Amino acid sequence: MKMHDNPRIALLGPGAIGATVAASLHEAGRTPALFGRTAHDHLDVRFDGGQIRVPGPVQTNPACIETTFDLVFVAVKTTQIEAASTWLSALCGEETVVCVLQNGVEQKSQFATYVSQDRVLPSVVWFPAQREADASVWLRAKPRLTLPDTPAAQTVVTALRNTRCSVDVTEDFISIAWRKLLQNAVAGLMVLTGRRAGMYSRSDIEHLSLTYLKECMEVARAEGATLDDEVMREIVDGFRRAPADLGTSILADRQAGQPLEWDSRNGVIQRCGRARGIATPVSDLLLPLLAAASDGPG
Ligand SMILES: NC(=O)c1ccc[n+]([C@@H]2O[C@H](COP(=O)([O-])OP(=O)(O)OC[C@H]3O[C@@H](n4cnc5c(N)ncnc54)[C@H](OP(=O)(O)O)[C@@H]3O)[C@@H](O)[C@H]2O)c1
Repeated sequence: MKMHDNPRIALLGPGAIGATVAASLHEAGRTPALFGRTAHDHLDVRFDGGQIRVPGPVQTNPACIETTFDLVFVAVKTTQIEAASTWLSALCGEETVVCVLQNGVEQKSQFATYVSQDRVLPSVVWFPAQREADASVWLRAKPRLTLPDTPAAQTVVTALRNTRCSVDVTEDFISIAWRKLLQNAVAGLMVLTGRRAGMYSRSDIEHLSLTYLKECMEVARAEGATLDDEVMREIVDGFRRAPADLGTSILADRQAGQPLEWDSRNGVIQRCGRARGIATPVSDLLLPLLAAASDGPG
């Protein structure tokens, strides 16, 4: 039997995204083992027309892990990688595929300290999900992932086959990942206003978003993404068409007083721009504000 025909699956970080993937696997009879920071007996995911309860428990002590897994989904925030890293050595063997369910374009380098880069499979996570006060997760769209077309991706495709979470693979992952990053970068503006998607109907926010996107686009292309100019308009129009109350996980973190993923969603534009000699005046203004909102002091 090939490893990916019936993989042993672990899910590290059973929050909004992790619980959704766990629920999709459970519904198809492939319940993953759950590992996280906070103990839970089970996970509840609700969506239009239903609810799935994933049996736990969520285990919280890496020292108690006695077996490694074929496939580990990692859905901690990018700000939580270091703190969660002891799990990786406990859960991963030589052949383990580590599928990173995180925003950003730096998954491979961010996990390189803990797992060899060729075992790290980045993904683009396309669905909005949010944690509710009762610890359940509200899934607000059909789950979908995009993966790079590599042999490791087949392990994930097999694991999620015939589940409610669809998976597509692409040979041009870098362009798709950067397109999503551009969307996330603009969503970061919500942190600075404390408003949700409705704010993009303002013409001044529309103008700022397009100016910022031009800067992001120049960096994305320099990094190897192939993206048409129309993408910028599409992203802004996407926010303008969205439900006015649709937030973003970085806004939810801000409102909860949690550290923000500002570096992986916005800072990366400035860092990559600087490395390539591209001016990033909008980022230069936004980043200190996002960083201070995240990390204080004050
Ligand atoms: N939510 C969305 O709509 C969405 C959409 C696309 C992409 N994303 C991206 O997906 C990633 C995950 O986001 P999310 O919204 O699912 O985050 P989340 O709901 O905060 O989930 C993070 C999970 O990781 C756990 N965790 C934190 N520190 C840990 C540690 N040291 N060891 C083990 N587990 C730990 C958390 O436990 P606690 O319960 O103790 O906090 C929580 O279960 C982010 O990169 C985000 O940008 C999110």
